[in-house]
Amino acid sequence: MQLVNYAAWIPAEKASLVVATAPFPDLAANELIIKNHALAINPVDWKIQASGGFGLSYPAILGEDVAGEVLEVGKNVKGFKKGDRVIVHALGLGSGPGYGGFQLYPKVKLATVAKIPEKLEFKTAAVLPLSVSTAAAGLYLEGTLGLKYPTTGSSKASQTASKKKEVLLLWGGSSSVGSSVIQLAVASGYDVVTTASPANYSYAKELGASLVLDYHNPDVVPILISLLKEHGAKVVGVYDAIGAEGTVRQSAAVLHALGGGTVASVVSAPDDLPKDVKVARIGSTNIVSQEAGVVAKKIWGEYLPAALEDGSFKAAPEELVVGNGLYFVQGALDRQKSGVSARKVVVTL
Ligand SMILES: NC(=O)c1ccc[n+]([C@@H]2O[C@H](COP(=O)([O-])OP(=O)(O)OC[C@H]3O[C@@H](n4cnc5c(N)ncnc54)[C@H](OP(=O)(O)O)[C@@H]3O)[C@@H](O)[C@H]2O)c1
Repeated sequence: MQLVNYAAWIPAEKASLVVATAPFPDLAANELIIKNHALAINPVDWKIQASGGFGLSYPAILGEDVAGEVLEVGKNVKGFKKGDRVIVHALGLGSGPGYGGFQLYPKVKLATVAKIPEKLEFKTAAVLPLSVSTAAAGLYLEGTLGLKYPTTGSSKASQTASKKKEVLLLWGGSSSVGSSVIQLAVASGYDVVTTASPANYSYAKELGASLVLDYHNPDVVPILISLLKEHGAKVVGVYDAIGAEGTVRQSAAVLHALGGGTVASVVSAPDDLPKDVKVARIGSTNIVSQEAGVVAKKIWGEYLPAALEDGSFKAAPEELVVGNGLYFVQGALDRQKSGVSARKVVVTL
């Protein structure tokens, strides 16, 4: 019996989502079809809905974060079988509605699929995909920070080792993207100094940050400069996981005082920053499309499944489940837009 697919469609530019049937995807030789069990919401979803940007053709299916089980396996696929539990960074933006995450049976490209352990629930694991790709794009591509790759088992050692490790400054350690940046950078052997609200200091430290400062403090920039100078270790760059004009300027000001370097930023950057600071705009899908896809292979193909299995990489932040079923996706977008603090909005299916 043919399964019936449903999606939370965005029918037209700036329209509210509508739940309706969707074509059951055709299986390509190098792809999988997933039975979706949980999806998470990202700011880009409501940003597209609010702005009408991103060059989408409508009707479209948004959604980047999927956790589910493999339902069908393309004939050339190796390494996955029916029934495998996986997370997927759904590459729907630019690839067509069949690849969007807000549907029961998305088709997915292999570059951004990873198996998850039995003990990890779908609703918990769904928080990870876009966050991991975005963190990896900013940390490892040569055009961004070009840092060393993570290894499994290294995060624990790095928390107890010498203070003189190279430092990554991360703006926004309690955000979804920041949560993956902390974990990846620590597993790559860097000390992570970050910013968050005081309520999330322990959250960021538990993920591996060595120092957390309150970004609300008007003196946060001079404090960071003096702490990092005192620390004496090389600062390898700044990852700005917030990407507001103010956070890019703050990141650039710290880096300028330390001799310059690169700020990798999740959004855009003003063009009047100090000359010794380069801003590299992060694009999550660049891990697949740039540098022969090597970052996706290293992170999604090798590091992530191993680190989830051995427990060294956590699904963070904690899921905030707002409903069960596609009818809850529009409300979930509105909930994400209203603001979250170290939580990720999730809809189970
Ligand atoms: N370019 C790409 O490919 C790409 C991909 C994914 C996301 N993004 C963008 O990345 C940004 C973050 O996304 P997300 O899903 O990680 O967001 P999120 O989890 O919704 O962000 C919420 C968090 O941001 C923190 N925050 C807010 N203002 C801050 C500031 N001035 N300084 C430090 N922290 C601050 C809050 O910290 P406290 O609660 O501790 O105060 C809160 O925990 C969004 O703009 C998103 O559109 C871009």
